[in-house]
Amino acid sequence: MSRRRVVVQSCIVLVACLTWAKCATGKGSLQRGDSAGGAPPPSTGGAGGEAVVLWWTPFTGIMGQSRNCGLGSCFFTEDRSYLHNKRLKAVLFYGSDFSIEDLPLPRQSRHWWGLLHEESPKNQPLFDHQPVLQLFNITSTFRRGSNFPLTLQHLKSIEALTSTREFVPTKEKNHLLGKESLAPVVYVQSDCDTPAQRDKYVSELAKYIKIDSYGACLHNRDLPAHLQDPAGTYNHGDFRALVAKYKFAIAIENAGCDDYITEKLWRPLTLGTVPVYWGSPTVRDWEPNPHSVIVVSDFQTPKELAVFLHRLLENDTLYESYLKHKLNQEVTNAYLLETMEKRRWGIDNDFEKGNFIEHFECHVCDQVLTRHSGGRSKANPGEFQADLSHYGCPEPETVLGEDEEARNFWVEQWNKARVEAQVLHRLVSLPPKRFTPDEFFDAVIPELQRDGFFQRFPPEHEEL
Ligand SMILES: *[C@@H]1O[C@H](CO)[C@@H](O)[C@H](O)[C@H]1NC(C)=O
Ligand SMILES: *[C@@H]1O[C@H](CO)[C@@H](O)[C@H](O)[C@H]1NC(C)=O
Repeated sequence: MSRRRVVVQSCIVLVACLTWAKCATGKGSLQRGDSAGGAPPPSTGGAGGEAVVLWWTPFTGIMGQSRNCGLGSCFFTEDRSYLHNKRLKAVLFYGSDFSIEDLPLPRQSRHWWGLLHEESPKNQPLFDHQPVLQLFNITSTFRRGSNFPLTLQHLKSIEALTSTREFVPTKEKNHLLGKESLAPVVYVQSDCDTPAQRDKYVSELAKYIKIDSYGACLHNRDLPAHLQDPAGTYNHGDFRALVAKYKFAIAIENAGCDDYITEKLWRPLTLGTVPVYWGSPTVRDWEPNPHSVIVVSDFQTPKELAVFLHRLLENDTLYESYLKHKLNQEVTNAYLLETMEKRRWGIDNDFEKGNFIEHFECHVCDQVLTRHSGGRSKANPGEFQADLSHYGCPEPETVLGEDEEARNFWVEQWNKARVEAQVLHRLVSLPPKRFTPDEFFDAVIPELQRDGFFQRFPPEHEEL
């Protein structure tokens, strides 16, 4: 139980951060109370007025705001009374807050459902499954297959990859290995219980190569006092300077899913520390140059990886072949360059470009206006329906590729969600198209039984 609560709490913190980011980048206009003046009255409003886009999960703190989005203007709100407004076109959900207990039912077929979920599959396993993704008409996730991809949400710019401002040259790194008795590898992680079970891998690797671990996980070295507050520390210049001194940084995502790539990869890459990466199987599509990243799954065992790292430690030429983005200041990956070029939003409170939340809202607005203005509504019914390529993460695997634990919480969650997704799809789609949480769980239990779920994951006593 406590584990579940931890998951929920971390989501809340994330949402709070995003909401804050939104408020902080809003040029002063994104505030409660904006609904005064210009807002369509909640449940009336005739044709020809603005399309309404409603955030069902409270998210932006905006009760009403009109914004022009290229193809036209939409009215964005978090006020749920707009659910019955004739001009409502889209209902948006933030993934971590999506809850079967609180849905806008019965669903109107003319209402699009939109999903924004840049977070890890760890947070909401329902989106790993087709029947739930199919409920959405428009998506924005870390995956390139979503309608408004956020894949590079942790990379500020191409210049950040080539800049040598924080880069520590190899000679100096070699010197530091001796002088400050730094290990060749750094690990900084405080989320120790993850689907990937990265700590198990890292402690295995540590048998063969020295690793300095500053976070709560496998902790063996302290951060300076002023860096010990985990929030806000990771972007601190002094923290970045510390990581930059290391030759290698462990970059293991909390879960493995196509295109799920976080600052764990981009921080070392922008610092000129070579990442030792596990996570997205597509990571090679995104590295600045061929061989900028050491990919854990290229090695049979942690020991084999350690042997390879030692080879690089002994040969500076070989080591530096991983740092072309810093040493030659070149990025040759055309796909990466093109994707960054096309990106309209910024990160780290980029006031000029705006953040991806606002841009996603406008993307929805433009799509809704395009869709509803033409007579194409029956042309291609599947056109606006999400599928696995929009999120769809596979059953969790561990970095070691095996699970010695008899019971893996994350695998269990994923499989439970697989069955729940089918039931949810059915209850939302078939009359009466509405249900109570109890009705939902009553429908799920026999399906779990039929599925063999309880044989694979026998209920624990405390849960009975
Ligand atoms: C170091 O690596 C380079 C590049 O792979 C290689 O050409 C060179 O022979 C290596 N040097 C030694 C001493 O192994
Ligand atoms: C939106 O998704 C729902 C649920 O899958 C679907 O019934 C509806 O046809 C979709 N709308 C469009 C315009 O494709």
